[in-house]
Amino acid sequence: MDPYLNDWLSLVIRFLHVVTAIAWIGASFYFVWLDNTLQTPPDWKKKKGISGDLWAVHGGGFYEVAKYKLAPESMPETLHWFKWEAYSTWITGFLMLILIYYIGADAYLIDPNKADISQTTAILIGVGAIFGSYFVYDFACKTPLVEKGLLFGIVMLVLLTFLAWLLGLVFSDRGTYIHIGAIIGTCMAANVMTVIMPGQRALVTAVEKGEAPDPKYGYNAKLRSVHNNYATLPVLFIMLSNHYPMTFGHEYGWLVLGAIMLIAAWARHFFNLRHRGIVKPSILISAIVAFAALAWILKPTPIEAVEGSTGLTDAQAITLVKDKCGTCHSKAPTDDVFTVAPSGVMYDTSDEIMNWLPRIHARAIISKDMPFMNKTQMTDEQRAQLSEWITKKQAAK
Ligand code: HEC
Repeated sequence: MDPYLNDWLSLVIRFLHVVTAIAWIGASFYFVWLDNTLQTPPDWKKKKGISGDLWAVHGGGFYEVAKYKLAPESMPETLHWFKWEAYSTWITGFLMLILIYYIGADAYLIDPNKADISQTTAILIGVGAIFGSYFVYDFACKTPLVEKGLLFGIVMLVLLTFLAWLLGLVFSDRGTYIHIGAIIGTCMAANVMTVIMPGQRALVTAVEKGEAPDPKYGYNAKLRSVHNNYATLPVLFIMLSNHYPMTFGHEYGWLVLGAIMLIAAWARHFFNLRHRGIVKPSILISAIVAFAALAWILKPTPIEAVEGSTGLTDAQAITLVKDKCGTCHSKAPTDDVFTVAPSGVMYDTSDEIMNWLPRIHARAIISKDMPFMNKTQMTDEQRAQLSEWITKKQAAK
């Protein structure tokens, strides 16, 4: 695809994905908060079948919200449903996955250093993992395990972490992370489509017919909503961490992913309890401490100085960067996949290289995820020499 068109498509779909996700998660947070904040209503409301109410002020007006224990006597003329936020988030997310990771599989999904698979194989594995995982999750939801909330959560976490390890054997590090994110997102959207919505439809139909709704529907819908609720922070964090190589690029990236999911779900637990009036700061504090500990553990080991090295001259260092990075980062890249300079970063002149020193240091020395998938095969020794030279240059500034 034309790289210019590709970039615009990517920008537009990403924008829509973020907007729809905000709408979905925003609505979801609001309803969880609402449910947990409702108070016992006055008697006259109770007589109407209202089990909880609350007052709020927002945007210059007062709002009175009432939740019925079962259902109103008759269906209101307009009933608002919340489903398109979820569907459109999933659709735009999947479009992005196709555009960046499937059409661009050679660039972002396949890492020949790990497994030299074809684009078709990679896509089949990816799509298979996404839908296969929902199948497993949905099955697990129909076993007695689901009654034991905490244990169920732990089993899902272990399965996902194992899957991250497995996918990491064939996919690029980034591709692995995005697939775990896509799997969680797919389960969440599928929960809305295949369980929560049908449950609500059954509820509405029962009320319209004047029958008592089957509690089974309400129970299952509630269960899947709780799962979705705990998945929100992990999925958001995975999507963002995909832009930070210190997470996915780590030697044990799959374990890091497991830790991120655990900490994020734990932090969500704090807010869930707080809405119900149970304030346990220890949960949030321990999540923050665990997070800081994770950052500390992931701190890269500094590259050892080369023994007996006389150091690179400026000309040698610049040639090294041009050789190892310029195949992609140039006005006219020679790379077979990246035909325009990625992120607009170009190293054609020594001035450009000098301007980019801090980021060259960050990506080639600290996170070591550039050259991209080490396509131009930069050795550790070359990184050490470059590191020494950059340190010298920055000290001289
Ligand atoms: C095979 C192509 C390729 C090569 C070779 C390559 N890069 Fe990149 N680079 C990319 C891609 C793709 C991106 C955009 C995605 C990203 O940021 O991870 C990028 C983004 C960057 C960025 C911008 C993002 C940021 O972190 O500020 C920097 C800086 C960078 N590369 C540095 C380097 C350095 C230094 C080298 C050589 C040691 C190098 N790259 C070699 C493909 C390449």
